[in-house]
Amino acid sequence: MSRWLALAASALSFSLFLGLITSLPATALSDAQVEAWLKQKDSSLKPLTLTRRDAAGIKPKHLRPSSPNSKSKRDITPPDVGQVAEFSGSPQPLRNGAGGEFSGDDTNHEIDAQNPDNVAGPPTDSGVVPNLKWSFSSSHTRLLKGGWVREQAITDLPPSVDIAAAELRLAPNAYRELHWHRVAEWGYILNGTGRVSAVDEDGRSYISDVVGPTANGDPDIYYFPPGVPHSIQALGDGLEILILFTDGNFDRTGTTFMLSDWLARTPLAIVAQNLGVNVSELANIPQRDPYIIPLPTGSPPPPPLGHADESAPVSPDGKVPSPFVFRLSQQEKTVAKGGGGWVKIQDSVTNFPVSKEVASALVFVEPNGLRELHWHTKDEWLYIIHGKGRATAFAGSSTSRTFDFQAGDTGVFPNSYGHYIKNLSPTEPLIFLEIFKQERFVDFSATQWLALTPPQVVADLLNISVATVQRFNKEKQVIIA
Ligand SMILES: *[C@@H]1O[C@H](CO)[C@@H](O)[C@H](O)[C@H]1NC(C)=O
Ligand SMILES: *[C@@H]1O[C@H](CO)[C@@H](O)[C@H](O)[C@H]1NC(C)=O
Ligand SMILES: *[C@@H]1O[C@H](CO)[C@@H](O)[C@H](O)[C@H]1NC(C)=O
Repeated sequence: MSRWLALAASALSFSLFLGLITSLPATALSDAQVEAWLKQKDSSLKPLTLTRRDAAGIKPKHLRPSSPNSKSKRDITPPDVGQVAEFSGSPQPLRNGAGGEFSGDDTNHEIDAQNPDNVAGPPTDSGVVPNLKWSFSSSHTRLLKGGWVREQAITDLPPSVDIAAAELRLAPNAYRELHWHRVAEWGYILNGTGRVSAVDEDGRSYISDVVGPTANGDPDIYYFPPGVPHSIQALGDGLEILILFTDGNFDRTGTTFMLSDWLARTPLAIVAQNLGVNVSELANIPQRDPYIIPLPTGSPPPPPLGHADESAPVSPDGKVPSPFVFRLSQQEKTVAKGGGGWVKIQDSVTNFPVSKEVASALVFVEPNGLRELHWHTKDEWLYIIHGKGRATAFAGSSTSRTFDFQAGDTGVFPNSYGHYIKNLSPTEPLIFLEIFKQERFVDFSATQWLALTPPQVVADLLNISVATVQRFNKEKQVIIA
């Protein structure tokens, strides 16, 4: 964990914030609480928040008003820093005297309101950067007996080459049918409880219950290596999972293999001989794959939560040596050096040995906090769990584009794109997942890089003073308050 940070026990402000996170899903703080929280920071260095703008009686004329000469000079005085976006209103394509208002029905105002940076991005945006965001709300939802599923594959979000994803809902006791994949599968339990089982290449078996977020803790995640066949069953509360696959082109033939589909495509006499049973016993096997199956009428419900082992046959080859389930609720938070939140990182090198093809981070950004300027050596796939965030992707060659994210959105920062993610809310935390097709979590911090380069070099190249450079943090801040 040292490459992120040692646990820094924290200032008073942080205990208030920790109080907040135990009661997720969070509710808005009262104005008095926000004021108290803000007073504990050096407010002179902070951008003007929506709350403080309102308190000061500043009414935005339109999205992100800016000074007439901001083209020639970066204005660092609020409110022209370009850090305030208007999410509640009806953004218009106007900035710095350029653009012009929508005439009426020439736009979808609801979508604009969620994407003010599409309508009038900050003046720093430049050039053509492809769309890097996909909301699951734009996905087709397959309605099935016993649940639903909706996907985001490369056809939805072409820059996401490494990762495709799905949200899956199972009714109480319903099954996701037996299957395996060409690629690795990683899951984050969004809601409810369930049971997963699998068998590895050496015949070793695995069964475990999984739980979604509770008042006291973060949910479970799981990982199935490529090829490992598995089943998922919801327990009494039903189950909802965010599922990722380590190939954006997840829908191509040859990626997912359902057992019932296979048996239906194989002469029954062969199946019978193979399984060592009489053909007549297989007369009623499914003729097409159902994907999800409600608990059949008359079938007993599974043993309740916590009793997974009761239904599991014992493998003569033993149990898998390394669990496929990881309990985020048992992982310590790594408090960000920058004081703006915490992270929990999982990868095969650090703490989740089986997860050789997926590295992941659960990131909690406190109100107004900033996931610092950084980049990675693989595509970062992003899923927003809670709150609203704004991110600018720097694609090199003088191009960048700003996106607005909210719960249920996915996004991608292709390999090496510089980016930040800013929590725009003065009251709500921003919680998201960073996922990589990689054996270990890797990121580079821009600030740390500059702080560890000879100061005169940085001062000369950025035309700033050496004294300023010497104030840059030599340790990764990760999230800045
Ligand atoms: C899970 O879903 C149920 C029903 O939709 C909802 O009442 C509950 O708040 C959800 N729990 C969490 C932790 O999101
Ligand atoms: C298979 O089952 C049928 C019907 O029960 C029976 O007539 C037949 O003898 C069985 N075959 C074998 C090889 O056991
Ligand atoms: C650095 O900044 C100073 C003060 O604004 C300016 O006069 C000078 O031209 C700048 N140097 C470069 C190389 O941009």
